[in-house]
Amino acid sequence: MSSYHFPANFLWGAATSAYQIEGDPLADGAGASIWHRFAHTLGRVANGDTGDRACGHYRRWAEDVALLAELGMTAYRFSVAWGRVLPDGRGAVNQRGLDFYRRLVDALVERGITPMLTLYHWDLPAALQDRGGWRNPDSPAWFADYAQVLFEALDDRVPLWVTINEPWVVTIPGHVDGELAPGLRDLGAAPRVAHHLLLAHLAAVAAYRASGRHQIGIAVNLEPQHPASAALADQLAAQRRDAFINRWFLDPLLLGSYPSEMAEIFGAAWPEEFMLNPPNPPFSKGGEMSLTTDFIGVNYYSRGLVQAEPTVRPLGARRVSPAAEVPITTMGWEVYPAGLTATLLWLRERYGALPLYITENGAAFSDPPAAHGVIDDAQRVDYLHSHLHAAALALEQGVDLRGYFAWSLLDNFEWAHGYAQRFGLVQVDPLTLARTPKRSASVYRDVIRRGWI
Ligand code: FCB
Repeated sequence: MSSYHFPANFLWGAATSAYQIEGDPLADGAGASIWHRFAHTLGRVANGDTGDRACGHYRRWAEDVALLAELGMTAYRFSVAWGRVLPDGRGAVNQRGLDFYRRLVDALVERGITPMLTLYHWDLPAALQDRGGWRNPDSPAWFADYAQVLFEALDDRVPLWVTINEPWVVTIPGHVDGELAPGLRDLGAAPRVAHHLLLAHLAAVAAYRASGRHQIGIAVNLEPQHPASAALADQLAAQRRDAFINRWFLDPLLLGSYPSEMAEIFGAAWPEEFMLNPPNPPFSKGGEMSLTTDFIGVNYYSRGLVQAEPTVRPLGARRVSPAAEVPITTMGWEVYPAGLTATLLWLRERYGALPLYITENGAAFSDPPAAHGVIDDAQRVDYLHSHLHAAALALEQGVDLRGYFAWSLLDNFEWAHGYAQRFGLVQVDPLTLARTPKRSASVYRDVIRRGWI
């Protein structure tokens, strides 16, 4: 490929999430989230970091919107903190919380930046966790009621809605590995947590169909799974991990049933009725995809190299590090742009030609100090370039890709890693919170401006 011209209406943005950037998580009547609780539990987050201050975006939102505009972005993906809007998760609306998002959306629209709003990026109100959280069969209805509040308040100005960010991560690192909030180690709960997340997505979509006027989708983490060796056990492990990560949520949404591997993976913990009654029995098969989602948001970072490991439950497999000569990020993730093209093509082949957005893509590196006023984050520049090329290759092959959101606008609170992992196009000074665009931000701005790569 020499150069590729992106479609004129292609959306160019960056992504963030509420708890990772806002700070002041309890301001103006907000209810605590499971992340507030988790980060304030000793030993859960590296260096004892919390989102109490984060990037201070709750106060500096206007500056951040101006920054998006200066960087030439035409879209911005952010999430709403459920507990700012409904402090107890249900019931009375906290107008001051809702007004924060109204102001943000107004400012974006004023600048000609298309808002993409994620309803759930992992910060469940703690009050709902006390009722069992996503293990509670009422959780889909809680979510739909919350979503309805946002639809009524903002659908006139928000054209792109994302229900849930990465349901797999909510389910496995959140409820099985104990690495992310709510920090549970409850293998037996995982199938139902996942099921409720799917039902929550479907309930919000149903509510949106009744009143919404735009597009609603879901964001999933996807990565090709490759066996770490030619051994049959590793090949089978890679297949299982493909079902586990890539197909667990999309198959029921778009094909109408769970992957057959799920029962094998979970054994007795997999409820038999899930095979007979998947979460969306009325849809699927007959081309009624639009009922379950208008688009798929793809969060792509790397690939999985998979090794069989019977002691790891439930999968019987683990992800291993790539060979020493392969470039990796400070997260230990292999830089593997070909996997982005492969993932986009795979989606079309398996699920048909539905609209796609790259809702997250980016890399953590330890950036050099500023020299002559420039933070030359050369590795992130390379990562950005190679992944935009990878996206362009899929577009050239006719994939209906409509936008790209870099993760992330700002260096921010990277969950259990705290502030140690930096994904931002823009540096945030830990003391002053001053924003300084890195070289990757200006490279991105140039690509957006010229429209080709
Ligand atoms: C994704 C999350 C996002 C960020 C990136 C690095 O799994 O959706 O919030 O943490 O990883």
